[in-house]
Amino acid sequence: MKTKTFASFILVIFTTISCKKTGMDNMNMAGQPVLVTEGNFTTPLAFPTITGANTTLTAQNVSSNINGFGIISSLGYSANGMLGPTIKINSGSSVNINLVNHLNEKTNIHWHGLKIPSNMDGHPENSIDAGGSFNYNFTVNQRAGMYWYHPHAEMLTGKQVFKGLAGLFIVNDTEENSLNLPSGNREIPLVIQDKRISLGSIPYSPTMMEVMTGLMGQYIFVNGVYAPYQNVETAKYRVRILNGSNARIYNLALSNGSPFTIIGNDGGLLASPHSVNNLIVAPGERVDLIIDFSTLSINSELYLISKTFNGGDAQGTQEFKLIKFKITNQVTDNFNIPASLSSINQLTEGMATISRNFDIQNSSMNMSGNAMTHTINNKSFDINRIDELINNGAIEIWTFDNTNGKEPHPMHLHGVQFQVLSRTGGRAALMSNESGWKDMVLCMPGEKVKIIIPFNSYSGKFLFHCHNLEHEDNGMMGQYKVN
Ligand code: C2O
Ligand code: CU
Ligand code: CU
Repeated sequence: MKTKTFASFILVIFTTISCKKTGMDNMNMAGQPVLVTEGNFTTPLAFPTITGANTTLTAQNVSSNINGFGIISSLGYSANGMLGPTIKINSGSSVNINLVNHLNEKTNIHWHGLKIPSNMDGHPENSIDAGGSFNYNFTVNQRAGMYWYHPHAEMLTGKQVFKGLAGLFIVNDTEENSLNLPSGNREIPLVIQDKRISLGSIPYSPTMMEVMTGLMGQYIFVNGVYAPYQNVETAKYRVRILNGSNARIYNLALSNGSPFTIIGNDGGLLASPHSVNNLIVAPGERVDLIIDFSTLSINSELYLISKTFNGGDAQGTQEFKLIKFKITNQVTDNFNIPASLSSINQLTEGMATISRNFDIQNSSMNMSGNAMTHTINNKSFDINRIDELINNGAIEIWTFDNTNGKEPHPMHLHGVQFQVLSRTGGRAALMSNESGWKDMVLCMPGEKVKIIIPFNSYSGKFLFHCHNLEHEDNGMMGQYKVN
């Protein structure tokens, strides 16, 4: 039997089984949602410890006491529990971080959003064996922003992130400091992640259907805490959010319907603030918000929630709460959001010399009939293949085409920051977090998104991929090489 015929034969069988199971008359290519179970929001929010440019991160098994679940074993970068410390540095600093691998499998660290040399960027070929260590040594020369770090070993990213390996990497600079944005206890970083809990651990073994949709959990953790609350004063707070989930997209909003202000995104501050009522944030994306609690009365409560949205069959079907804010203290706050935040050099289509098109709309059964395949331009990740050759200094337009796709794909490039030029199909517009600089762009089903990328930092080999981590580990990743 020819392999192609065999594959379609299996596909027919799968279709039949899937239709019987779901009772649908066509194959449900976009999967099923995993519904969130809200907790009671009685555990105080925790914050990762803050550390500087010289530190040791030890990937290890940890135990955390999770409200309602008891002691759970997971992974972390210190004995403190899940996640890693927040690394905070000034732009221009040299970083010297030693990663020690106390896992029983390989790992490494990718510095998501940073423009650093390729051999420091956590390429899967630079993975560290169990028991080994590696010294990450680089200088950060880029804008202030909230970047992050996580493992990137081949086919292990989803598992290791889901079990708890991730941390924030905050860069400050003088442009940002001059704005006097809310700081100290009025600057709240939130890492939002959905988890599963079973038999005292965070299990990771996605089924074929879960590779299709990406793995989603029932329990929403914020900074490693399930269903937390945070006390606040009647003031404006800077709330900096990372969606550190493997696959789940959130449509952020406040429970009283009030607007909030977006001041920054993946690559730092926007040129000017935008007031919004809700904001879709995909896995890997960061948003920098000002939330105004000043008009709320003492003892009142406000939730950050995720509202429903149109995101294919498996996403956006449910509204649920993420974290509770309790207003506990009346104060006078004189902070006003500056009308101008930063200066952004706006790139235009005419500046680009090369255009590349990336077909991201296909997912299919593989030959063995027991797993999905996610591809870019019909190719699965191959560590020995360079997909795109780039001239250093070039400005390029990349188009991600999900026109006939059924699943959302948050696309990410290593080693660069880019700007989003346009979106056609689907939401058919740029979102309020899509001005300024980004390293992620969400392509919903039906959408074609065009970005413009200046390749103006290091030469070498870098990755681009879908940041739905099951899609990434399933092959939805390619390599570009800058010469
Ligand atoms: Cu956060 Cu290669 O990704
Ligand atoms: Cu990255
Ligand atoms: Cu994807």
